[in-house]
Amino acid sequence: MPNDFVRRLGLRHPLFLAPMAGETAKPAMTVAVSNAGALGSIGAAYMAPQTIRETIRTIRAGTDRPFHVNLFAPTPWQADPDKVAAYRRELVAAHEALGLPAPELPNSYQEDFDAQLAAVLEEAPPVFSFTFGMPGADQVAALKSRNILVIGTATTVAEARALEQLGVDAIAAQGAEAGGHRGTFLDSVENSLVGTMALVPQIVSAVKLPVIAGGGIGDGRGVAAALCLGASAVTLGTSFLLAEEMALGAGYRAQLQSEQAEQTALTRAFSGRHARGIRNAFLDRFAGHDDLIPDFPVANAMSRGMRSAASRAGRTEYQSLWAGQAARLARAEPAAAIVARVMQEARETLQATARLGL
Ligand SMILES: Cc1cc2nc3c(=O)[nH]c(=O)nc-3n(C[C@H](O)[C@H](O)[C@H](O)COP(=O)(O)O)c2cc1C
Repeated sequence: MPNDFVRRLGLRHPLFLAPMAGETAKPAMTVAVSNAGALGSIGAAYMAPQTIRETIRTIRAGTDRPFHVNLFAPTPWQADPDKVAAYRRELVAAHEALGLPAPELPNSYQEDFDAQLAAVLEEAPPVFSFTFGMPGADQVAALKSRNILVIGTATTVAEARALEQLGVDAIAAQGAEAGGHRGTFLDSVENSLVGTMALVPQIVSAVKLPVIAGGGIGDGRGVAAALCLGASAVTLGTSFLLAEEMALGAGYRAQLQSEQAEQTALTRAFSGRHARGIRNAFLDRFAGHDDLIPDFPVANAMSRGMRSAASRAGRTEYQSLWAGQAARLARAEPAAAIVARVMQEARETLQATARLGL
């Protein structure tokens, strides 16, 4: 099914592994997906610059095929003292329940974006993408001058237009069904929750760039549908979470395989930024209590100790269980088998559609 964009990237399939920062950022996963002919990705947002360099070298040692590195563009934020105090009180209770000492305030809230980007520029992966906002036009130009294909994330048509103006090479259109953090950066999240089915064709019509569709696409039927909407490629996040190479914590994996995975919600509870995950006690505690949560990255850094300890202990009520609305379609298979199956399903779906003879 290769189209111009897929050929330009040197892929066999119009399929991306979504970049997923955190415990889901596994070079083995990137390598397995790239070697299977799709675009492997690594969510490097929480990595220090030196770790980014080493991770890219590890990926290169495992594959000579294209892959993609992703960062969070900087966002405006403040550490509101009242919210920090209120959020810390909630974390103290969670730490107590997990048998941990009360949380200390972190020394720093996030990695320096410019230093992270400098590491990316040095290592020059074939593809770079960003979400949460827009880097400087000079930074995009610097990436492109090193032959790095640049993808920006949009959740609305207006964001896609702004990214085209900025000079990116392609748009990742993130529908409201998507697992993980929302990429929204122009309007409020509430005003930017457009489903994939509505978002993709509107962005395809609004910009001249290739569009990569993502959000609630769980198998080849969704891939076929997204290609019919005009997408040049499709990105799957949640559907790769059960891949063998992901080595996900046992609690998270079990939640994804349970009926609970049908219950996802948008929340700021874990990070201060809206993200979609499987509902659990910590997420529900903050429903309707946005005032208790400081901005991203403050809340994200403050809750890290709780989330890591909960992951180790299998206490899923305190974990951020990021997942999209198609979570129940995910299957536990090797990454290459997921790529092969999804593409076979997409081909069968398109052939069945052609037989309708419309
Ligand atoms: C566990 C998880 C972590 C994610 N982390 C990132 C990230 O670091 N950067 C990013 O651009 N998108 C991130 N996303 C969003 C994905 O890029 C993509 O939009 C989403 O997974 C697509 O929807 P789906 O999960 O329904 O397939 C994450 C998604 C998940 C599920």
